[in-house]
Amino acid sequence: MWEDFEVALEKVAEDKLKKKPTPDKLGFGVHFTDHMFLMKWNRADGWHDSRICPYRNFNLDPASMVFHYGQAIFEGLKAYRGKDDQLFLFRPKDNFERMNASAVRMCMPRIPAEKMVSILRALIYLEKDWVPKAEGATLYIRPTMIAVEPTLGVKPSSSYYFFIIMTPVGAYYAEGCNPIKIYVSDQYVRAVKGGVGNVKTAGNYAASLFMSEIARKAGCTQVLWLDACEHKYIEEVGTSNIFFRIDNQLITPPLEGSILGGLTRDSVLKLAASWGIDAIEKPISIDEVLDANRSGRLQEVFGTGTAAVISPVGELWYKEKNYVINNGQTGEVAARLFTELQAIQNGFQADPFKWVTRVG
Ligand code: COI
Repeated sequence: MWEDFEVALEKVAEDKLKKKPTPDKLGFGVHFTDHMFLMKWNRADGWHDSRICPYRNFNLDPASMVFHYGQAIFEGLKAYRGKDDQLFLFRPKDNFERMNASAVRMCMPRIPAEKMVSILRALIYLEKDWVPKAEGATLYIRPTMIAVEPTLGVKPSSSYYFFIIMTPVGAYYAEGCNPIKIYVSDQYVRAVKGGVGNVKTAGNYAASLFMSEIARKAGCTQVLWLDACEHKYIEEVGTSNIFFRIDNQLITPPLEGSILGGLTRDSVLKLAASWGIDAIEKPISIDEVLDANRSGRLQEVFGTGTAAVISPVGELWYKEKNYVINNGQTGEVAARLFTELQAIQNGFQADPFKWVTRVG
């Protein structure tokens, strides 16, 4: 029962604490905090053996199902440092609820979302010195669930680990908030409706690597995926959702099963609407985007994601041709969203949507 769910605390000895990286050495997901959270699940006991413990290796059987059939889901959220060293989380319960939606689709056990927020707050409080002080730097949090039953039968695992690891991060892209160049994939696809494109499962990212390498070799930072049937409608970027501003209207593709429902995407729709911007979800084709660019109606393009925050797109590479957007500059809405979203997340600005939770 979750009411009597106890979390054991096993602390790292003071003299064994890791040296924290300097702000210029943060990178993304390179350094990990001293502690992590871990709990286990099996049919008889449900979630049990829950602990905040030193960050350490797992001892897993090579037959563990996650290694063979990829039954794995994860989330990404951040802790922010605000004024007077207050720490904040942004929409953490929504992340755990989205994880539960992923769990259902992947035949994995659900986690208690509310309880996980409390545990996460305790973990962050313990690791408060790891939340970077440098502007724009944050503590990235990676809740993950993996199948650990050691068997090769193809079926849902009967045992799982759920863990949370944390890493201090700088900007996700080397470009920071400067515009990136993205490769529009007209050959490979990310997901089909009815598949798992709307689920944050590890395999989606593994499947994207081949195309990401093609994009990288073409000098692009990311891939923009088109729909799997017609290779015509825009879906999402590898690690973020995507927005287009055309004739002052902000457009993002609708969530119809193949796109991940990003929390930053949802926040941007709400924030922009609160400023009086016409922000809508509707199918939009690559041809419409390029036509709008040709006729000067495409004002800006940007990606949204927890890791990527707001990431302007300055160039699109499609069918061996390069299309420059907004003279390769950051658009005004992207810049405003970047500034105001971060101000809300860091507690510097009023939070009319009640997205922010204080940690300590
Ligand atoms: C996030 O934005 O948190 C993501 O999950 C993207 C990640 C795969 C880098």
